[in-house]
Amino acid sequence: MAGSPGILLRGRHRVDGKLLFDVELDIPAGRWTCLLGKSGVGKSTILRLILGLDTGGDFSGAFHATDDAPLDGRISYMAQSDLLLPWLSVLENVCIGARLRGQNPGLARAERLLDRVGLSRHAAQKPGTLSGGMRQRAALARTLFEDRPIVFLDEPFSALDAGTRADMQELAAEVLVGRTVLLVTHDPAEAARLADQITVLTGEGARNWPVPVTPPLRAINAPETLACQAQLLDYLRGRKACA
Ligand SMILES: Nc1ncnc2c1ncn2[C@@H]1O[C@H](COP(=O)(O)OP(=O)(O)O)[C@@H](O)[C@H]1O
Ligand SMILES: [Mg+2]
Repeated sequence: MAGSPGILLRGRHRVDGKLLFDVELDIPAGRWTCLLGKSGVGKSTILRLILGLDTGGDFSGAFHATDDAPLDGRISYMAQSDLLLPWLSVLENVCIGARLRGQNPGLARAERLLDRVGLSRHAAQKPGTLSGGMRQRAALARTLFEDRPIVFLDEPFSALDAGTRADMQELAAEVLVGRTVLLVTHDPAEAARLADQITVLTGEGARNWPVPVTPPLRAINAPETLACQAQLLDYLRGRKACA
């Protein structure tokens, strides 16, 4: 997508005076970066910092888009909790951004996305009547509906069964082609499949992990996907120093 910039972030983040991370993070333009790391290491915090949301800590450093234009209004965000509004229907939740901005909600496109995430028959239901996986797919549809050049996805497929997860990965890869995507995931297989860049976050910093030479979206059972996934899992388990 033309106009999808990269993002550079440098700095330290402290929570209760204690250093959480000290990073140099380069998120390349128009590509998928998968961010992995142990729970509590600060993955969601990085997204929230760039979004200008409260993190409960202190950041000293800077970040900017590589085109030097403000990031405001250019990022769509799928939070780790789905943030669906309980009093609105699934369809209304998908369109909520447009409605809040006073724009035409684009119902036909919202309905098409709901169809793609398998929720057509549930468009009129309230979120409280849906399963966890269905709620997550509704939140995904809302994020894809936003049509922004930069997209932050915080564990967007975590509540899905394996088959649905693969389907939703493929949908997101298709809809978000050419955009700058930052995806937080715990799943080495997901990163091996989707990533142009894999970045592992630890207290020591962010380091990039080698990705297969083939471009994403990679087949789940391709040898290079399986090899990357296995080596990354060993690393995350502390059984491999580095690739
Ligand atoms: N709003 C907040 N207030 C206080 N501490 C927070 C807040 N959000 C996150 N933290 C703390 O920051 C650290 C990193 O959290 P987080 O970024 O959510 O980790 P991750 O997404 O990698 O699991 C944790 O120790 C967490 O308790
Ligand atoms: Mg998190």
